[in-house]
Amino acid sequence: MSKILITGGTGLIGKLLQQKLEANKHHVVILTRNPKKENHFKWDISSKFIDDKAFQNIDYIIHLAGAGIADKRWTTARKKELIDSRVESANLLFSKVKELNITLKGFISSSGMSYYGAINSENIFTENDSPGNDFISKICIEWEKAANQFKKLNTPVTILRTGIVLSKNGGALKKMNTPLFLSALGNGKQYIPWIHIDDLCNLYIKAVEDVTFTGIFNAVTTEHQTNTSFTKILGSVLKKPITPFNVPGFVLKMLLGELSVILLKGSRVSSKKTATHYSFKYTKLQEALIDVYSK
Ligand SMILES: NC(=O)c1ccc[n+]([C@@H]2O[C@H](COP(=O)([O-])OP(=O)(O)OC[C@H]3O[C@@H](n4cnc5c(N)ncnc54)[C@H](OP(=O)(O)O)[C@@H]3O)[C@@H](O)[C@H]2O)c1
Repeated sequence: MSKILITGGTGLIGKLLQQKLEANKHHVVILTRNPKKENHFKWDISSKFIDDKAFQNIDYIIHLAGAGIADKRWTTARKKELIDSRVESANLLFSKVKELNITLKGFISSSGMSYYGAINSENIFTENDSPGNDFISKICIEWEKAANQFKKLNTPVTILRTGIVLSKNGGALKKMNTPLFLSALGNGKQYIPWIHIDDLCNLYIKAVEDVTFTGIFNAVTTEHQTNTSFTKILGSVLKKPITPFNVPGFVLKMLLGELSVILLKGSRVSSKKTATHYSFKYTKLQEALIDVYSK
């Protein structure tokens, strides 16, 4: 049994991860901006405040906190929030762990498949590939750099470069299951690397329970789907019609500004390295979606 501190543990992934870790007899505490439960502890990233009690006897930190990438237009202020909520938060955790002289068994952080940039290409990106050079990859580069600081304390670091997480409770699927988005976007050829939320939680649990699972891993399943094929399968599972025309890229650019790149661009991402450590439960989109909507 380990004691695990989860940042952003109140979110889509964190809530299910807490349940699954507790089912495996681990003890979970959560860092949140708005504590509401007994196992919640407060932090405030801008004023560099964290309740020290959150760190009592912890073995692992799982860093999930971050402002929603697709929730608001990317104004200058929003861009700063997207970065600070991930990077300044990790820096704050690092300072606190150092100050309190805590020996962690591991620091486990989310990152995004967007590390490789929002681009359309036929390349299948592996963990060894270089990052992109746009804003979305910049977030991931800085996020990972902040997580990797923990190596200076001889703490093993695991980073999960995560694809679109499938859950009916939030994230991309909730946004896609609307009249505008139940249609192919742009030319529809952009890839959508995806992972079922159960598989993602299992990867986080593996990072806690398996000391060999350290380093950088793409958290995406083995199958490759384009925006067009993904949308068709989603429509068939939901038994909803797909709009017979694609939403033109310029419409999305007008509606969403720069943020539209994450909808209009996307490459394939390799799961080969991850699959040598973990056997994915869901590798077919149709089965994954049927499961998601059956719960
Ligand atoms: N869902 C996906 O498809 C997906 C894909 C790739 C990567 N990820 C990454 O995985 C992590 C967790 O994802 P999720 O889907 O569970 O996200 P989520 O539901 O939006 O939850 C993220 C949590 O981060 C905290 N947070 C939000 N804005 C913040 C801010 N400005 N400053 C500090 N904390 C803030 C919130 O916790 P409190 O309100 O309690 O403070 C929130 O519950 C995120 O970093 C996300 O970028 C997710």
